[in-house]
Amino acid sequence: MKIFLVQFASKEIKMSNLTKPRSYNISQQLVSEIKQFIPGGVNSPFRSFNEVGGTEIFFEHANGSYLFDVDGNKYIDYLGSWGPAILGHSHPQIIKAIENAVRKGNVFGAPHKLEIELAKQIMSIFNSIESIRFVNSGTEAVMSAIRLARGYTKRDYILMFAGCYHGHSDSVLSSRGHSSSAGIPESFSENTLLVPFNDLQSLKDCLTTFKGKIAAVLIEPIAGSMGVIPPQPEYLLGIKQLIQKIDPEILFIFDEVLTGLRVALGGAQAFYDVKPDLTCFGKALGGGMPIGAYGGRKDIMDYLDPIGKVYQAGTFSGNPVTMASGIETINLLKEKNVYQYLDQLTQMLFDELTIFIRKHNLEIQLQRVGSMFSILFAPKPILNYEDSKLIKGKAFAQFFHRILDQGLYFPPSSVDAACLSHAHSSEDIEISIKVICQALNQ
Ligand SMILES: Cc1ncc(COP(=O)(O)O)c(C=O)c1O
Repeated sequence: MKIFLVQFASKEIKMSNLTKPRSYNISQQLVSEIKQFIPGGVNSPFRSFNEVGGTEIFFEHANGSYLFDVDGNKYIDYLGSWGPAILGHSHPQIIKAIENAVRKGNVFGAPHKLEIELAKQIMSIFNSIESIRFVNSGTEAVMSAIRLARGYTKRDYILMFAGCYHGHSDSVLSSRGHSSSAGIPESFSENTLLVPFNDLQSLKDCLTTFKGKIAAVLIEPIAGSMGVIPPQPEYLLGIKQLIQKIDPEILFIFDEVLTGLRVALGGAQAFYDVKPDLTCFGKALGGGMPIGAYGGRKDIMDYLDPIGKVYQAGTFSGNPVTMASGIETINLLKEKNVYQYLDQLTQMLFDELTIFIRKHNLEIQLQRVGSMFSILFAPKPILNYEDSKLIKGKAFAQFFHRILDQGLYFPPSSVDAACLSHAHSSEDIEISIKVICQALNQ
């Protein structure tokens, strides 16, 4: 762990490691090879360079704030593994915890003590969590929470917010208009209601129209996949109050798969001081191991099989390796004021970029909460999914490749959140500011 006050280093910044001419020959060969075996060459479409063009990079190892590819190129990482790498990559204490656990048996398929320990850790941080179940991904967590909400309320409708991403299960991808997929029966979307993010009046109208029918209101408390969009002041509280006023049996579900342990130790619910009925977790909670979890009010969680009638199961759920990694991650996150450091570091990046953007009168929006942030090529601040259509994908694609060639690895997407880690140094940020400003100046 390091000291938390961020300062600009006055010394000359060494960019040579990052900026030496790059070749991607081995990556290119491997990309052609992998495409013969794996659809599109990726195990998750987010990783593909479809939006930005060019050839994906094959990575070999990662350490702290850096990624290293198979051609020997080094990058400052702003992908953060799409969220989990809040402590950077290959943290020695997390590796040790994983090694200790794996030696004792990597999956029992039966209860063990580490499950209790991680559950207690989470409950010590999130006061909305009275009972929790571990699963293996954010998708699974949200899918299971929705089933639980439907089983508990005996209602079918789920109300969601256009442009929020909740994983790839049928119910949430069927949100008409956004993120839709072939292969989902039309009937799924019949039970999904969509309203715009950051708009209480539309929510009020929908809650009133469908009174008595909605099982849950499901939200990303900070949107992360249409640009990072903070909720407007009092918006989350406003949703809770509308539910209580119009239809109090509706469950309020926070999808904190990305925000949990990222924007604050206690997630967005601590950051904005709003208590949901159920919360979904993933990403940072596993310290880099695959994880998901959902939890909340005990009376709701007790509807789960084997004590209740809502079924959900998983061979690898709560396995000791993931639990050990999660426990050590929370220990480290609790140890020092990690969030103050992350906030200062991200602010440092934003302060300098803001000056540059204003000086050059660029149509770019900088949006962030804590260490999740977006550089959006749009003429005005992005507040919802409609606004996000203004984001210029082509301008982002050019920018993405310019900074990639100078050693910054961002999500290959004009809308998905970039993430900083506790392993990033102020020097990393200074280099990044230079690279980004140069790229914007071209
Ligand atoms: C808010 C949110 N919910 C759910 C998911 C799905 O999680 P996973 O990719 O682990 O299935 C994601 C993933 O990006 C997410 O950002």
